[in-house]
Amino acid sequence: MPPSYEQLSHLFRFFGETQCRGRSDVYATLSAAVADDDQLLELTSTAPPDQRRPSLLFAAVNLLLANDQDAALRSYYPIHGGTRKIDARLAPTFAAFCREHWSELEQLLATRSTQTNEIRRCFALRLGRHELARHWPGPVHLLEIGASAGLNLIFDRYAYRLDGSPLAGGDESTVVVETAQRGITADRLWADRPAPVRQRLGLDQHPVDLDDPEARNWLEAFIWPERIDDLATLRGAIEAFRTTEADVRLVRGDAVADTAAVIDELPGDEPVLVFTASLLSYLDQDQRTAFDDQLRSAAERRRIGWVFAEGPALLARSGIDAAGLSGPLASVVTNYAVGVSLRSPDTRHDQILALAEPYLRWIAPARVPDDDFAWASDPTAP
Ligand SMILES: C[S@@+](CC[C@H](N)C(=O)[O-])C[C@H]1O[C@@H](n2cnc3c(N)ncnc32)[C@H](O)[C@@H]1O
Repeated sequence: MPPSYEQLSHLFRFFGETQCRGRSDVYATLSAAVADDDQLLELTSTAPPDQRRPSLLFAAVNLLLANDQDAALRSYYPIHGGTRKIDARLAPTFAAFCREHWSELEQLLATRSTQTNEIRRCFALRLGRHELARHWPGPVHLLEIGASAGLNLIFDRYAYRLDGSPLAGGDESTVVVETAQRGITADRLWADRPAPVRQRLGLDQHPVDLDDPEARNWLEAFIWPERIDDLATLRGAIEAFRTTEADVRLVRGDAVADTAAVIDELPGDEPVLVFTASLLSYLDQDQRTAFDDQLRSAAERRRIGWVFAEGPALLARSGIDAAGLSGPLASVVTNYAVGVSLRSPDTRHDQILALAEPYLRWIAPARVPDDDFAWASDPTAP
């Protein structure tokens, strides 16, 4: 294998083992196969260096597959009506599809970027919103950094189900966001309706315009092959976003350079709830430090509540100083920590509120404020 592909091969293997295991058998199988396939690694390296990700290749293939009714590969993808069980033909069928569509894939990989918008992460936002309201009651502005299409910005327009039971807030919505709770029951965390959101703003390097059908198809291409339910939820959320009367704005910008300026432009003196979910893994260490500096600087002028759903290992290296991160949790890379970092000119309070599956398919609320989740026997379990 050419040395330049070794890192990429490792990335596919890591993605398969840490992200796909127990979540998508199709992508787990394909990740392992691509990791050993020089041709497909060469294809993936068509993407700009910071976009060479397994998810980008899989999404590009998925996009083309949606329009290719006759492709044999479709039979393995339940979202495209496939019912075939995974067998030894999956990897060669995938490779053959890639060879057949080589130039289209090269073009997609060179010009597109990873785009997912997972509204199940609104459970993390709700949890953080409630914690913020405990400290600072009253209205807030909501600013999501790395907002993608902005679907999380209308979190209070969705209905929620926890272990099958409805939660208060947005109950009349036809978009239902569901998750499972692990460990303790923490109903009190979800029960009340917090004060309203004033302005809703999303900042993203590549914001998704949901009025553009091509952009919508690209977002859908990131749904994993087995997740028929996620596709329906995403389509419902897109419809809700396009028809919402809420004033939602998406702006193009860089988390590392523009966060403080965007916060400074928000009117009034309400706290700003800054939400990030799955952003830190897109930043290198210097950029993570710079992002923390942006929040630190903005918090010299007003109250900032950073609510996050991010990898604990990255949080531990991004300025979060929560007691919960002082133990083994700080090295977990497979699941996310949900928490808050409340900052103002005279306060600083960091707390991990829950451990969660990265797509928030389950959430395990903290038992005590400085919980290190040692009780979650395997915090890396899918
Ligand atoms: C995995 S998506 C998560 C989107 C959304 N937060 C969610 O949970 O569904 C990461 C998003 O971060 C954006 N992003 C990556 N690096 C960024 C940066 N430096 N500044 C702003 N946005 C960035 C990407 O464009 C993408 O939309």
